Amino acid sequence: MRQPQQDFIEITIMFFLINLMEILFTHKTMKQLNIKQILMIAALIILSGCNQEVNEDYMIKKENFGEQDGKEVFLISLVNNEGNVVKLTNYGATVVWLEVPDKNGEKDNITFGYETLEAYLNGDPYFGSVVGRYANRIADGKFTLDGKEYNLAINNPPNTLHGGPGGWHSRVWDTEIIENNDEVPIIRFSYLSPDMEEGYPGEVRAEVQYSWTDDNELIIEYKCTSDKKTVLNITNHAYFNLKGAGNGDILGHELMIAASKFTPVDENLIPTGELKPVEGTPFDFTSPHIIGERIDDDYDQLKLGRGYDHNFVLDNKTEPDAMVYEPESGRLIEMTTDQPGVQFYCGNFLDGLEKGHGGMVYAYRGGLCLETQHYPDSPNQPDFPSTVLEPGKPFESRTVYKFSVK
Ligand code: GLA
Repeated sequence: MRQPQQDFIEITIMFFLINLMEILFTHKTMKQLNIKQILMIAALIILSGCNQEVNEDYMIKKENFGEQDGKEVFLISLVNNEGNVVKLTNYGATVVWLEVPDKNGEKDNITFGYETLEAYLNGDPYFGSVVGRYANRIADGKFTLDGKEYNLAINNPPNTLHGGPGGWHSRVWDTEIIENNDEVPIIRFSYLSPDMEEGYPGEVRAEVQYSWTDDNELIIEYKCTSDKKTVLNITNHAYFNLKGAGNGDILGHELMIAASKFTPVDENLIPTGELKPVEGTPFDFTSPHIIGERIDDDYDQLKLGRGYDHNFVLDNKTEPDAMVYEPESGRLIEMTTDQPGVQFYCGNFLDGLEKGHGGMVYAYRGGLCLETQHYPDSPNQPDFPSTVLEPGKPFESRTVYKFSVK
């Protein structure tokens, strides 16, 4: 990231260097230097120190990605000091591209995305997008708050899914790029969701901040406030395939989730209300297991979910909360969150028809999601942690996906 003050520092250093050369060429000893020359040498030493602290190679590029709802849509590229790239768009506050090396240093994009805004508008709505106001399902698209029933848009009959058809994944968010010297830049997307949007009460101001660090951490911070009592559950729906997006399925990936319980579902993928221990079931990922190892077991929850598509009740005791490792590439994700749950979804509804970056086909079970969240259908489940958002009490949350190799 080039800063104007960096140019100034470099020009100043050049000036001092020229003077220093003059001193050296005239073979002056320390005693013969005048006060001006001594000060110059001291300033040179200090300035070269300052210059090293500036992020030399970090780059941000903001390009036009089209227009939607009368607003400009951007494609923002972040290149960290390691040369690894994350691309974001304010359409849906979406992660478009995430490029990290494998164990041999070969870089590849490991998340699902499209090359054009048009493809986003016509394609799968949840590739890398932020989902809200309510991530995952609310039974029959209804809930009651303070004695009043609210009816939501039904887009996954008989339920509402991911905030409804016009959820936050489909909105154009406002974009701010926040650059502070020596700190990793922040991309802040904000959206003002009107009262009764998709049937939800309250005007909600949502903010999602992304940062992409030199340690290959994608940090996502959420902040939401409402002017009326409402319900809220916000997450990011990125699909990962550590072999590279479009390179087959994720059944050979190894997964750990630090969750001793999960929330079993009914035939409509609505939690039954039980918090079921994972021990002795194919849902026990407390130690690492290959995803494909037990996916076809004769186990009712795997049948109901068509595979894994469940909320895991995080123990929230150790870090990371989840880990994904792919042996061929050596790529690793360590995921840490402050949320009480994570939806582990392994792409059971992907039909192999979607083509993303470079025409790559995103196969059935070709990507996995770790959607950090509150539990699905919490507004109708009094024993689940509350998802009620009260005016004056902002919701704040943070999830980190750290990428490395082993
Ligand atoms: C979530 C759900 C899945 C599916 C996907 C989107 O992860 O749990 O059932 O709806 O979103 O396709």
